[in-house]
Amino acid sequence: MIKAMSRRAMLAHLMSLCFSTAASTTPSVNLGYEIHTATVNTTGDYYIFSNVPYAQQPVDDLRFKLPLSITGNSSTINDGSTTAICIQGAPIWTIQQSANLYNVSDEVIEALLWNEANQTEACLLLDVYVPSSTFNKTTTKTPVLVYIHGGGYAVGSKAVDPAGLIARSQLDNGEGMVIVAINYRLGMYGWLGGANDTIPNLGLHDQLMAMQWVHKYISLFGGDPDQVTVIGGSAGASSIVFHITSYGGKSTLPFKRAIPQSPAFQFNINSTAGYELTMTVASNITGTNISTVAELSALDAATLKSVNEKTILQGSWGNVVFGPAPDGDYVPKLPQVLLAEGAFNKDIELLIGHNSNESVSFVDPSISTDTEMFLSLEEQLPEASNATLAYILDTLYPAANYSTQFQRAVQIRSDVYFACTTRYLALAKGNETYSYLFAISPGYHADDTQYTFYDGDSSTLDSGYPVDVPMAYVLQDSIIGFTQAGDPNKAPVGLNGSFPLYGSDAQVLAITLDRLVTETDDLDNVRCAWWQQAMIDGLV
Ligand SMILES: *[C@@H]1O[C@H](CO)[C@@H](O)[C@H](O)[C@H]1NC(C)=O
Ligand SMILES: *[C@@H]1O[C@H](CO)[C@@H](O)[C@H](O)[C@H]1NC(C)=O
Ligand SMILES: *[C@@H]1O[C@H](CO)[C@@H](O)[C@H](O)[C@H]1NC(C)=O
Ligand SMILES: *[C@@H]1O[C@H](CO)[C@@H](O)[C@H](O)[C@H]1NC(C)=O
Ligand SMILES: *[C@@H]1O[C@H](CO)[C@@H](O)[C@H](O)[C@H]1NC(C)=O
Ligand SMILES: *[C@@H]1O[C@H](CO)[C@@H](O)[C@H](O)[C@H]1NC(C)=O
Ligand SMILES: *[C@@H]1O[C@H](CO)[C@@H](O)[C@H](O)[C@H]1NC(C)=O
Ligand SMILES: *[C@@H]1O[C@H](CO)[C@@H](O)[C@H](O)[C@H]1NC(C)=O
Ligand SMILES: *[C@@H]1O[C@H](CO)[C@@H](O)[C@H](O)[C@H]1NC(C)=O
Ligand SMILES: *[C@@H]1O[C@H](CO)[C@@H](O)[C@H](O)[C@H]1NC(C)=O
Ligand SMILES: *[C@@H]1O[C@H](CO)[C@@H](O)[C@H](O)[C@H]1NC(C)=O
Ligand SMILES: *[C@@H]1O[C@H](CO)[C@@H](O)[C@H](O)[C@H]1NC(C)=O
Repeated sequence: MIKAMSRRAMLAHLMSLCFSTAASTTPSVNLGYEIHTATVNTTGDYYIFSNVPYAQQPVDDLRFKLPLSITGNSSTINDGSTTAICIQGAPIWTIQQSANLYNVSDEVIEALLWNEANQTEACLLLDVYVPSSTFNKTTTKTPVLVYIHGGGYAVGSKAVDPAGLIARSQLDNGEGMVIVAINYRLGMYGWLGGANDTIPNLGLHDQLMAMQWVHKYISLFGGDPDQVTVIGGSAGASSIVFHITSYGGKSTLPFKRAIPQSPAFQFNINSTAGYELTMTVASNITGTNISTVAELSALDAATLKSVNEKTILQGSWGNVVFGPAPDGDYVPKLPQVLLAEGAFNKDIELLIGHNSNESVSFVDPSISTDTEMFLSLEEQLPEASNATLAYILDTLYPAANYSTQFQRAVQIRSDVYFACTTRYLALAKGNETYSYLFAISPGYHADDTQYTFYDGDSSTLDSGYPVDVPMAYVLQDSIIGFTQAGDPNKAPVGLNGSFPLYGSDAQVLAITLDRLVTETDDLDNVRCAWWQQAMIDGLV
C-alpha cells in the first residue's frame, strides 16, 4: 500500500516535471502578483497573454470605488483562459436599429446582449499581444499600442484581432509592435455620477490604471514603456481626449502619443438625471426604496445587472444615460473648454481621425419637418435659450443648405457629438498634428475600425461594406509609423502617399475610395468655432 502510494507520488512528481518542462517553453511573465502564461498564434508567430488582471476586481466592497492596484507576491500561475467582459447594456434606439436590421423583435436583441457570455463585474483585465521576435529580444524594447474600445461607454470589450497590424508592423524588418487591449467598467458600474455619494468617471480611472500598468510592466513582455501610443475609436477616442485634458493638463500621463479616432461625445450628459433614473429603476425592480449608492451596492449581482440594463435602455434617440462628465477633479471642465484654454497635456503627440458621415445612425430618421428639427434640438440642448436655438438653426444650419431635415440634423450632430472635437485638438496643439478624414462612402461612424484592424480578409463585411485594401494598408501604415517613430510617413514599408502635417492651412489626409487626397479640413469652419465658444460661454 505504502509502496503503491509512493509510486503514485513518484509518478505525480514525474508528471509535474513534465509539465514544468512544458511550461518553460510556454512563454510566461512573472508579474510579482502572479505568473502569467501565454498561448501562441503559430500562424502569426505571436504570443497572447490573455485576461491579465490589472487592478483588484471591483466587486463586493470595491463596487463603485476607485480601482486599486494589485499588491502581493504570488507564484500562482494564471494561464489566461478565464475570459471576462464587463456588464453590457444598450439604449433602446440602438436595440431597435439592430432589430430592424435583422428583422427580429427588440426582445431577441436584448436577450442576445444581456445574455452575452462571460459578463462579470470582475472585468478589469487586459490582453497583451507580443510578436515572438519581440519577446525573445533582450536588448532593445518595442513600441506599444494600447487599444481602448468604443461602445458608448455601455457595451463592448477588449476582444479584438490585432493579427493584421502585428504582421504589417514587422514587414521589411520592422520592429513590430506590442499590442495591449483593455476592459474598463461600463454603464452604471463605470459612470454613475451626479450625487455626493458617487465617485464619478470610474471608467476613466480604470483606463488610467490600465495604462499605468502598461508603463510599469510592459518591459517584461519586451515592450518599451517610454514608447506607448494609445488608440481608440468613438468612446475610446473621447476617453483619450479626457485623459489628455485631465487635471487641466497638470499631470504626467503614462503614454507619449495618442490616436483618437472620431471622439464621440455627449458633452452635456446629465449625471444627476442618470443617478436619479438609476435609483428609480432599482427601486422599481426591487420593490424597495433604493436612494443611495450604499443601498445600490448592497444588491446582489444579478439584480444590479438588471438595474444597469433597464436604466441604460432609457437613453433617448442618439443619447446615452451614462458617460464621462466634468467632476471638478480628474475632469475639471469640458475637454473642449480645456483645449481652448490650453489646459491640457501638451507633451502628447497626436494622430487624429474623423469620418465623413459620422452621425447617420444617431439621428431619429423620423425628423422631417422644421418643428421636429426644433424639438429635437431643444431636447438635446436643454440649457440653450430660444435665441441660441434660433441662431443654430437659422444662421449656422439654415434649412436651405440641406436636402432634407434629416440631413440637417445629421450635420448638427456630426459636428457637435463627433467631428469638431478633432479640430479643437489640432488647434490646441498649434496645428502640429496629423489628421485624417475617412471618406470612403458611406463614411459612417466607426467605419474606419475595420480598416484599422484589417487582417487580410476583405470579404467579411463589418458594416456591410467591403474593405478597400490599399486604403486599409495606408491607414495601418500611418498608425504603425506614428506608433514606432512618431510620424505616419515612417512605417517600415513607408506610406503609399504622403501624410501632411495639419499646419496653419489645416491640411488633412482624405482617405477616399481608391485614392488619397490632401485637402483642407472640412471642420475649419464657423460652425465648429461657434460650438467651442458656446461651450466656453455656457450657451449650450
Ligand atoms: C492568428 O494569426 C492569423 C494571422 O497571422 C490570424 O489570421 C488569425 O485570426 C489569428 N488567430 C487568432 C485565434 O487570433
Ligand atoms: C516575493 O517573494 C519572494 C520569495 O518568497 C521574495 O524573494 C521576494 O523578495 C518577494 N518580493 C516582494 C516584492 O515582496
Ligand atoms: C467565455 O469564456 C470561456 C473561458 O472562460 C471561453 O472558453 C469562451 O469562449 C468565452 N465565450 C465567449 C463568447 O467569449
Ligand atoms: C420579417 O419577419 C417577418 C416574420 O417574423 C416576415 O413576415 C417578414 O417578411 C420579414 N421581413 C423581411 C423584410 O424579411
Ligand atoms: C522565440 O523563442 C521561442 C522559444 O525559444 C522559439 O520557439 C521561437 O521560434 C522564437 N521566435 C523567434 C522569432 O525567434
Ligand atoms: C449628500 O446629499 C444628501 C442629499 O442632498 C444630504 O442629505 C447628505 O447630507 C449629503 N452628504 C454629504 C456627505 O455631503
Ligand atoms: C439634470 O437632471 C436633473 C434631474 O432630473 C434636473 O433637475 C436638471 O434640471 C437637469 N439639468 C439640466 C441642465 O437639464
Ligand atoms: C417599473 O416596472 C414596471 C413593471 O416592470 C415597468 O412597466 C415600468 O416601466 C418601470 N418603471 C421604471 C421607471 O423603470
Ligand atoms: C426613499 O428614501 C429616501 C431616504 O430615506 C427618502 O428621502 C425618499 O422620500 C424615499 N422615497 C420613497 C418613494 O419612499
Ligand atoms: C421657445 O420657443 C418655443 C417654440 O417656439 C416655445 O414653445 C417656448 O415657449 C419658447 N420659450 C421661451 C422661454 O420663450
Ligand atoms: C451619408 O449617408 C447618407 C445616408 O446613408 C447617404 O445618403 C450619403 O450619400 C452619405 N454621404 C456620403 C458623403 O457618403
Ligand atoms: C493654426 O491654424 C489656424 C488656422 O487654421 C490659425 O488660426 C492658428 O493661428 C494656427 N495656430 C498656430 C499656433 O499657428
